[in-house]
Amino acid sequence: MGETVNANYTNLFTTPLLSHVWSDAEQLRDELTGRILAHEKAHPGVTNTNVGGWHSEGGRLDFCGEAGRRVVSHIYEMADEATRRLLSECKLPPRTLNWTLEAWANVNRTGNFNRMHTHAGTTWSGTYYVDPGDPPPDEEHGTPIHFFDPCQGRSNTFMPLIVPISVLIRPEPGLMIIFPSYLPHMVFPHHGNRPRISIAFNLRNEPFP
Ligand SMILES: [Fe+2]
Repeated sequence: MGETVNANYTNLFTTPLLSHVWSDAEQLRDELTGRILAHEKAHPGVTNTNVGGWHSEGGRLDFCGEAGRRVVSHIYEMADEATRRLLSECKLPPRTLNWTLEAWANVNRTGNFNRMHTHAGTTWSGTYYVDPGDPPPDEEHGTPIHFFDPCQGRSNTFMPLIVPISVLIRPEPGLMIIFPSYLPHMVFPHHGNRPRISIAFNLRNEPFP
């Protein structure tokens, strides 16, 4: 080996992502499922990134009752933890940031999907999986979310067969993920009798950015 074996190696401009399966998932699942499906029946929803499927209005999950309040509390805890890890990685002391939250529910049935998008005008985005639906029999968990390298120049040119240009995460009940809002992602078409039910959210650091 030559002299460069001792050269300094670093990887600049990485992307943070925090994931956690909440321990009260089973406890929250029935109430969230019941309330979200009831709200879906009574409200037409909005069309945003969803192709088919149902996307509720944005807000603080008021239609999800006590279970919704628990999820909102989990969302803040995830944002604070992700921020704490980021500050620590940047060798900065911990501090409390001021978040504005917008959350909504999604129901995807067979054939429904979410096209590739980012979440504009916010800081962290994320998802909580209430129910992944019926996964195909050969898959371990439900219909995945697919993340793409936000640096297209890199993903098109820099050893794309070696450096991953996209990453799949398969949902399971209670899984929450949080990531920078600029990170492009899409949701694969769902298949199965049971719908894929999730809660998505944006947290904007005030004053933004
Ligand atoms: Fe999204």
